[in-house]
Amino acid sequence: MISILFVCLGNICRSPMAEGIFLKILEREHVLNRFEVDSAGLLDYHEGELADSRMRFHASKRGYNLIHRSRPVVKADLDKFDWIIGMDDQNIRGLKQLASTAQLSKIHKMTDFCIEINADLVPDPYYDGDQGFENVINLLEDACEGLYKAIIAGKL
Ligand code: 4NP
Repeated sequence: MISILFVCLGNICRSPMAEGIFLKILEREHVLNRFEVDSAGLLDYHEGELADSRMRFHASKRGYNLIHRSRPVVKADLDKFDWIIGMDDQNIRGLKQLASTAQLSKIHKMTDFCIEINADLVPDPYYDGDQGFENVINLLEDACEGLYKAIIAGKL
């Protein structure tokens, strides 16, 4: 079993979207049973909530059904998951503060796996309009394909 945790700040926009996209890739590749995928946030403000309604609206337009409920990341996650993927440098710093030295190598930035799009973060769309949410999905679709390829190739 390969386990992946996507992490952002609130766990209501970027990381549940990444989780939904990655799950769809696993479904397409018929390998869902080989992976455990989850998402979490560095903040607990939205604990128990579904993804932001704007994120779910834009996701549904591309065929993604986001059913995850927000939860905060906990230290045990750093032990449990094989790969922990943050969305920006602030997420990476927060995750590194929770990690032991041995766990640091599990932490990666989502955009490091982009194939087509040149970006160094997945921007927080919370205060943006429609285009911000579309941009997040574009970035995450590209980066999730790259992440899947990297895992399958044993590059991580
Ligand atoms: P996310 O976006 O990290 O992509 O889920 C955010 C949503 C809410 C907040 C921050 C980021 N917030 O501070 O409430």
